[in-house]
Amino acid sequence: MPLSLSRRAARTVQSEIRAMSIACEKVKGINLAQGVCDTEVPAPVREGAKQAIDHGINSYTRAEGLAPIRQAIAEKMRRFNGVECDHETEVIVNSGSTGAFYAVCLALLNPGDEVILFEPYYGYHLNTLVAVEAVPLYVTLRAPDWTFNREDLERTVTLRTRAIMLNSPSNPSGKVFTREELEWIANFAKRHDLFVFTDEIYEYFIFEGRHISMATLPGMRERTITMSGYSKTFSITGWRIGYTVCDRRWAQGISYFHDLIYVCAPAPLQIGVAEGIRQLPESFYEEIGKEFIQKRDLLCNTLHEIGLTPSVPNGAYYVLADASILSGTTSREKAMCLLNETGVATVAGSAFYHGNGGENLIRFCFAKTDAELAEACRRLKALPEKLPSEIPSGARDHYR
Ligand SMILES: Cc1ncc(COP(=O)(O)O)c(C=O)c1O
Repeated sequence: MPLSLSRRAARTVQSEIRAMSIACEKVKGINLAQGVCDTEVPAPVREGAKQAIDHGINSYTRAEGLAPIRQAIAEKMRRFNGVECDHETEVIVNSGSTGAFYAVCLALLNPGDEVILFEPYYGYHLNTLVAVEAVPLYVTLRAPDWTFNREDLERTVTLRTRAIMLNSPSNPSGKVFTREELEWIANFAKRHDLFVFTDEIYEYFIFEGRHISMATLPGMRERTITMSGYSKTFSITGWRIGYTVCDRRWAQGISYFHDLIYVCAPAPLQIGVAEGIRQLPESFYEEIGKEFIQKRDLLCNTLHEIGLTPSVPNGAYYVLADASILSGTTSREKAMCLLNETGVATVAGSAFYHGNGGENLIRFCFAKTDAELAEACRRLKALPEKLPSEIPSGARDHYR
């Protein structure tokens, strides 16, 4: 046998988001492609980590994470999410929620097991499933509200389906599943005996109402694997602190695989996050919603004005916009057209669909400082002058 990559590696491609960030760098553009939160890290989080380093918390930790952060997460789960959990046996600190999902998949899925994924999906969810040789089954959310057809779910599920993936608030659509939708999915999961893998990383980025955790719905505690983390909430994407909360029956296996791949999340940074959870007042979290609503409105109003009609999100910090007016036949060409004309980088909609459902969409991220977002909007406003005056018929109507 000649030397070669594994079949698994041969299937992987460079992430669309990373490719766009590189293209953006080349033209010194403004990167609204990547979900990197440029806002300030709260002081208790920074100070907590610095003090932990100075006090010698620099070694491997227990596979499940240090006690102070597990206790802080369990307390926060009770207070904010309404989920009771035992910090000793039902909370695992992970290398980001990305590390959480990989360990969850290794512990709970066999090769060939099917997992239902709503599309537009978050690429890492799909690629993680593919990496563990699970089989994704797609159910498409329909714009502009990103609702799903219940019959589509019933048609999709088979005897080999083991889980359904939920991400609310969602990347890239910004959809926040309603209580009624969550209840329907909960009953569906119970009827077909499925796990629900729920990625709640944007739980504090909600512009109306309050976050609902799937694990709080009747009968869902034992089959729900809740994953989240502090990358977004504390603007620490590079720290890699996430967590899993689930029934103790699953926690041990998840912790085993997390240990095998990552050993543990960075020790002093676990303490920084624990201090943040312990010290920051409720108002800190309420401010996130208020701050991001302003960013959302600034970007969405600009997009409306220039004819890139947005689907206004209810949560998270992304906007999918109708890219019909941009030249190009694929969403990648359209995203490149926008980058070339305005210097603003976005992600091609095709990154979020398995078929061609995203070819008329581009995704903007508004987790940027106010100054940077204002500059991006100023540049975007120049778009209409740069495009041919003839706008393709049907453009601007996509979401009406
Ligand atoms: C839906 C979703 N889940 C998880 C992540 C990554 O989270 P973490 O930094 O905790 O791995 C992201 C980042 O963009 C995301 O959008």
